[in-house]
Amino acid sequence: MNPNNISDLRISYTKATLNIEVTDPCPFNQFEQWLNEAIEAKTTEATAMSLATVNEKGHPSVRTVLLKGFSRKGFVFYTNYESRKATEIECNPNVGICFLWKELERQVTIKGSAKRLSKDKSEKYFKSRPTGHQISAWASTQSSKVPNRKWMLEREEELRTKFSDREIPYPDFWGGFQVSPIEIEFWQGRENRFHDRIVYRYEKSKWTRSRLSP
Ligand SMILES: Cc1cc2nc3c(=O)[nH]c(=O)nc-3n(C[C@H](O)[C@H](O)[C@H](O)COP(=O)(O)O)c2cc1C
Repeated sequence: MNPNNISDLRISYTKATLNIEVTDPCPFNQFEQWLNEAIEAKTTEATAMSLATVNEKGHPSVRTVLLKGFSRKGFVFYTNYESRKATEIECNPNVGICFLWKELERQVTIKGSAKRLSKDKSEKYFKSRPTGHQISAWASTQSSKVPNRKWMLEREEELRTKFSDREIPYPDFWGGFQVSPIEIEFWQGRENRFHDRIVYRYEKSKWTRSRLSP
C-alpha cells in the first residue's frame, strides 16, 4: 500500500443500528451492555480507553489507560499520581474519555470530572495486582525523563531485592481516579457515514437522552 493513498482507505460500517427506543434510560446500564458485548466479541483490550486531560495553559494531552471498574459514581482507572495526566487532573479535573470498539463499529465518549479514589480502594486494588506490576509501579517515575532502559532495569531490580522477603507495600504516589460523568455518548457506525449517535446528559439531577446528527 502506498502511504500516499491513505485517503482512499475506507470501509463501510454496516454491523448494527442504534435507536433511542432500544437504549436503556440509564447510561450506565447502556454502557455495561456495550462493554459486555465488546468483551464477548473478543475485541482487543475492550477496557482500553483514551483519556484526555488539559494542562494549566489549556493545552490538551491524550493517552490510553485501562478501565478497572465503573458504577453510577463513575469510571475508574489507576495511574501514578506524579504522572503528567495526574498533575493535569489536579489542576483541572475536567477530562474526556473515548472507548473505540472497532470490531463492533462502536465508540463511547464521556465528559466528566476526575477525582482521586480513596486510599483504601487504591490500596485494595494494588494488592490484587501481579507482583511484577506492583514492582513496576514502585520503579516507574512515570512521565519523567530517565537516562536509559538500563537505569530503569537496575531500579526495578533494586526494588525487587528490597521487597523480596515481604509483601510489597502500597506506594502512596500511585492510585485510582474516578471520572464522574456529565455526558455519555454512544456512537454506532452506519452506511455512507450516516451514523447513529445517542447522547445522555446529566441535567437538573437526571439523565436525558437525545439523538445527535452524525
Ligand atoms: C493499552 C494501554 C493501556 C494502558 N494502561 C495504562 C493504565 O491503566 N494506567 C497508566 O497509568 N498508563 C497506562 N498506559 C500507558 C499510558 O498510555 C501513558 O503512556 C502513561 O500513563 C503516561 O501518560 P502521561 O505521561 O500522559 O501521564 C497504557 C497504555 C496502553 C497502550
